[in-house]
Amino acid sequence: MAPQSRVAPTMGGASHVIARDERYGEVTDDDVRHFVRCVGGDAAGVVVSTSATATNSKAADGAGDALDKYNVDWMGKYHGRSRVAVLPKTTKELSAIMSRCHARNLAVVPQGGNTGLVGGGVPAYDEVVVNLGRMNAIVSIDEDAGVSVVEAGVVLEELESAVRARGMTVPLDLGAKGKCQMGGCVSTNAGGLRLLRYGSLRGSVLGLEIVLANGEVLDLLRTLRKDNTGYDLKQLFIGAEGTLGIVTKIAILTPRAPTNVNVALFGLDSFASCVELLKLARGRLGEILSAFEFFDRESLDLVLEQLKGTRDPLAKPCPFYVVVETSGSVKSHDNAKLQAFLKIVKNKRVIVDGVVGKDEKHAFALWTLRERISVALKYAGAVYKYDISLPTARMYNLVTTLRARLAPQFGSGVKVLGYGHLGDGNLHLNISCAEYTDALERAIEPFVYEYTRDERGSVSAEHGLGIMKAEEIIYSKDAKAVELMGAMKRALDPRGILNPYKVLPAATRVAALIPMSRL
Ligand code: FAD
Ligand code: MLT
Ligand code: ZN
Repeated sequence: MAPQSRVAPTMGGASHVIARDERYGEVTDDDVRHFVRCVGGDAAGVVVSTSATATNSKAADGAGDALDKYNVDWMGKYHGRSRVAVLPKTTKELSAIMSRCHARNLAVVPQGGNTGLVGGGVPAYDEVVVNLGRMNAIVSIDEDAGVSVVEAGVVLEELESAVRARGMTVPLDLGAKGKCQMGGCVSTNAGGLRLLRYGSLRGSVLGLEIVLANGEVLDLLRTLRKDNTGYDLKQLFIGAEGTLGIVTKIAILTPRAPTNVNVALFGLDSFASCVELLKLARGRLGEILSAFEFFDRESLDLVLEQLKGTRDPLAKPCPFYVVVETSGSVKSHDNAKLQAFLKIVKNKRVIVDGVVGKDEKHAFALWTLRERISVALKYAGAVYKYDISLPTARMYNLVTTLRARLAPQFGSGVKVLGYGHLGDGNLHLNISCAEYTDALERAIEPFVYEYTRDERGSVSAEHGLGIMKAEEIIYSKDAKAVELMGAMKRALDPRGILNPYKVLPAATRVAALIPMSRL
């Protein structure tokens, strides 16, 4: 194959330019032939770059490169330069592929639906892309135990449809459900819209099968709710973002689906009122409260501007909006509770206005206004995304502070939006602009990270660290904890081939690498 490009990857900002680690090998034609053998000669299992230049830019004839969809992330922000993507169909095939990569010191990036928002699922340079999309079988659905076993490449929405048909649901829902894969969700420990009800995936995932960096298969695939036989190793791989192993199978709780769901959207005049509404919702709706999401008027304006078919939900604009969802199983009971809640929030003047979804279509339209903000942001141009945990009551101060900080220099061309999972203390702070510039990035970072550190928050509530925030882990984790993470990385991936440049800071990662000459 032609030698790989040494050009730094495109990541929309100078501070993220990193150098390729030359201790990794380069994929040769021999490697490609070996990969083809690993997938049993199946041509669809190995995709090789069709452009001669090894960049992911459009090929000279105007056609896209075959590797584009594996090299570029959902936002179009992170661009890798891989020459080859492998798509195994079985754990055995993947194991053979990883053995080869390990022996040859080839860096690998595990990839699911490629909907991640921190550049974790695309190569930084010429890593071999291992895409799990063809390992997409639903292995079993056990209605009695409420547990499903799936291969990692099963798309979240497909699992939801399959279990719904049996009266169950997946304890996870997010805007990318039509594309993100269960393996990707587990590997990012995705939060989403149902975390308030079902908790983190760390509690819902019962077992995993993993292919380790050297190709060995680690069988942690149990369907037991209780298992206290020593260390809970599967937790290491949940949220590891593909740096410790490749998830191939998942056993996950799939509880009974609620039969009665209500959705209400409220307009409020301050963030403090949103917090007050949350307190009342927790107290008055109790066990039927299943989601509590907020967004500001700036977010709604962008949705109305960018997404066809959306419309202002209330008669007059409000500075803040909250979507409340209730889920239960006895309609009369749930509806009575919701009505009592509505009465109280009106009487106490916590809300300015509100609307309850009158049917499924209307409820869907209300949810869309919140769920598709990230899609509106993508259509609007460039976006700097921050996904932060902060003390709930003070969460929105960061949005107003940043607005005041950016306005004098950047004016109205730069919009600062705040939305997120208020019920989980998770703010999505987004800066929408025409293009990525170093000046704007320098005005935002490290300010946002320092602010979060000073509040003892987290610089990644749910999206992970990926390549975007590998160095920023120190704002939220103690140095000793980062050191221990490095030790775990070395234990599980001694050659450091799994998802290099991601999650861990360079100083920790480097120690895990073995130079080619010593192999
Ligand atoms: P990818 O993007 O392909 O990969 C993500 C990370 O996981 C990478 O580091 C990759 O290397 C690793 N990985 C993928 N598959 C495997 C595997 N089988 N084994 C080991 N490592 C693997 N996230 C939330 O938390 N909450 C939300 O509400 C939410 N909403 C979103 C809405 C939209 C419109 C979009 C585009 C994204 C949203 N996300 C959200 C982010 C993203 O969808 C999630 O992080 C999702 O879990 C990623 O899944 P994926 O299959 O696309 O993974
Ligand atoms: C969301 O909650 O909408 C997602 O996490 C995506 C985003 O932050 O834009
Ligand atoms: Zn989110």
